[in-house]
Amino acid sequence: MQLIKLDKIDSTNRYLKEKKELDDYDLVIAKTQTDGRGRRGNEWLSDEGAALFSFALRVGSSLKSEDYKKLPLITGLAVLEGLKEITGNDLFKFKWTNDVYLNNKKISGVLIEKLEDFFIIGIGINVNNKEFGELNSKATSIIKEFNQDYDIEEIIILVINKFKTFYNKLIDNKWNQILFDLNSYNYLRGKKITISYSYKEDLDGYAGDIMEDGMLEVLTDKGIIKIDTGEVHIKNIRKY
Ligand code: BTN
Repeated sequence: MQLIKLDKIDSTNRYLKEKKELDDYDLVIAKTQTDGRGRRGNEWLSDEGAALFSFALRVGSSLKSEDYKKLPLITGLAVLEGLKEITGNDLFKFKWTNDVYLNNKKISGVLIEKLEDFFIIGIGINVNNKEFGELNSKATSIIKEFNQDYDIEEIIILVINKFKTFYNKLIDNKWNQILFDLNSYNYLRGKKITISYSYKEDLDGYAGDIMEDGMLEVLTDKGIIKIDTGEVHIKNIRKY
């Protein structure tokens, strides 16, 4: 395991993807990114003060391939539990599939990419950064919510340790314990959402629980459906 600390890089995910001789839990931390990547090709604001890091996870035989799609969920949960522990605040919410929300605003996102032998798990947490420009109504940070700054590396190490705990539970067939926790923090439950497909029309519904297989249950006027991570993007979230 190698720890690489950088002042500036295009993207910590890209850095690890291009690194020769990758090892399990190699970790790269950057103070800023010039081309931080989010999911679905979005940009990730990467100002100094944010926790911006990626680590490598070997694709071993202990994780069943049908459980690969649970990695974003346990990563988001690891961030949530880490932030909860460090701030002592239990109002953090888990927004399926891997985001952490606080006071209805996004505080952390996760981008997982798969190479042949490794997953690259990239995490961005808004810690001591304050500027979100046009995303001000949708994004927030620890300092904005709690008026206190935190040690970024301490948060990163804590989150990775939490991840290891959840990953070990996952491979020890203790997914049901994780699922229980995820649902206890489920931000979307009961909210009206619009599901946006790339290949057919949008669909409205009310989000329910996260299911045994990691999918999200949605009540629509066509009945109860389950939505999968790769397939959909949730556009609107409204309370009713
Ligand atoms: C999202 O919510 O869209 C995912 C955001 C993931 C951002 C992190 S920051 C560290 C790592 N490097 C990147 O380029 N992206 C991830």
